[in-house]
Amino acid sequence: MKKTLLTPLAMAALLAATGAQAQTVLKIGYATSPTSHYGVGSTVFCEEMEKGTQGRYKCQQFPNSALGGEREQIEAVQLGTQDLVNTSTGPLGNFVPEVKIVDIPFLFRDYDHARKVMDGPIGQDLSKKMEAKGLINLAWTENGFRHMTNSKRAITQASDAAGLKMRTMENKVHMDGYKTFGILPTPMPFPELFTALQQGTVDGQENPIPVILSSKFSQVQKHLSLTGHVYSPAALILSPAVWNKLSAGDKKVFLEAGKKAAAAQRKKVNDDENTGIAQLEKDGMQVVKQVNGESFRKAVAPAYQQYAKEFGADKIAAIQAVK
Ligand code: PAF
Repeated sequence: MKKTLLTPLAMAALLAATGAQAQTVLKIGYATSPTSHYGVGSTVFCEEMEKGTQGRYKCQQFPNSALGGEREQIEAVQLGTQDLVNTSTGPLGNFVPEVKIVDIPFLFRDYDHARKVMDGPIGQDLSKKMEAKGLINLAWTENGFRHMTNSKRAITQASDAAGLKMRTMENKVHMDGYKTFGILPTPMPFPELFTALQQGTVDGQENPIPVILSSKFSQVQKHLSLTGHVYSPAALILSPAVWNKLSAGDKKVFLEAGKKAAAAQRKKVNDDENTGIAQLEKDGMQVVKQVNGESFRKAVAPAYQQYAKEFGADKIAAIQAVK
């Protein structure tokens, strides 16, 4: 029997005539569980994006670092071998140095301040810098204010943290700041952290409440101190390999879906901050709620001289001045 082969044009005409549509599946990765803040934000993005493109685009989600650490995933998105990543800015500065400024300890006063800066002209300017490096930032999502946990002792003031071996992100801005607290920073990709805490390779770590909860660190850490020593922004990043192929209408849909994802992710961070601490106490953690923040701020002051040299005192002041 003679086989008839359709040209791509004839195939498109046939699909249109039958109402069938080609579907593109985009791979999205993130570090934590599907029910965590990253999972909630990513799911909202996927649902909105699928709805807005009438199913021409959909997601396949890879939670729990299934596609590797955040640094690896950002690299894969830049190369186009992964489509999307919902990641903290922790390793992002290794690709876009200007972004490192938002990882300075005690830079942001509170959530309102941080969200206003990230959504305003400063955040938009950083997104442009990302685009120039082959990373399309659809929206600033959120990881949250970071707090310290450890297996050795309660931390009420900076001197209590001195001498503790703590896992940090692979982020020099964090490490330079934490050294001033007397901590021994040990950079390590997140997927290795639970085992490192379990085996005592490190004494502690620092992460926002939603991460401490979803990663079940209460199983391997006794002490939690609400240090809130640094805000950890996050970004929903799309590969230019995908972005450059989108129509103007689809680009709008992706950006709108990103906005809704950010709102949902931030709401989940709020919810976890409100209810998660009681949950962690129930799970056996001893929580220091009244931390002497001033002792940490005082300790970190010398690092600010270094930050001013690296990023410009005016740029730091501009962030601090946002009301
Ligand atoms: O600690 C980290 O590496 C990050 O906070 C995490 C957990 C991967 C979320 O972005």
